[in-house]
Amino acid sequence: MNSAVGPRRRTGTLVRPPIQASHVLRVGHVVITTPKPNEVGQWYRNTLGLLLSDEICDEEEGQVLLSFNRIDRGEEYVDHHAFQTMAGPAGGVHHISFEVLDIDDLYIGHDCLVNAGYRHVWGIGRHKQGSQIFDYWLDPSGIMYEHWTDSDLLNVTATAGRDTIPNSLGPWGPPIPPQFITHVA
Ligand SMILES: [Fe+2]
Repeated sequence: MNSAVGPRRRTGTLVRPPIQASHVLRVGHVVITTPKPNEVGQWYRNTLGLLLSDEICDEEEGQVLLSFNRIDRGEEYVDHHAFQTMAGPAGGVHHISFEVLDIDDLYIGHDCLVNAGYRHVWGIGRHKQGSQIFDYWLDPSGIMYEHWTDSDLLNVTATAGRDTIPNSLGPWGPPIPPQFITHVA
């Protein structure tokens, strides 16, 4: 994409992406619900060697409500989170997440899903923790899934961030619907 500053990245070619469903490239992350998001996140970090990228806390008591964890590949840059815990019922899946090709692919795929009558949950917006451009949907069985593009990439040197709920929303996008917060499958 071209931007107003910096070198022009696209010259002499036109933007003509195919009008079709998003092209999913891989599973990006999974989010589980648990009554103990901090302890369960710590267990995964201690046991599987994940690294903490960010946590979001309750404003009054400082209790961790969400933890975002990434794979440790040393100096190599990896997605901001591959595994996330979130306050909720034990053993639940909040959403699974797929990386799509780019922002056009995400928006065109959104239109295809609208036209196909699927149930939309939240988006399109940009997250704060991980910075992905996101779009959330329900599959026919009620499991929530996410299309995203443009994640932050961190390596082993990054220090963990900490936010409270009121400071955790991204720079743009629609307000977070209550259904997203309470969803579990
Ligand atoms: Fe996600």
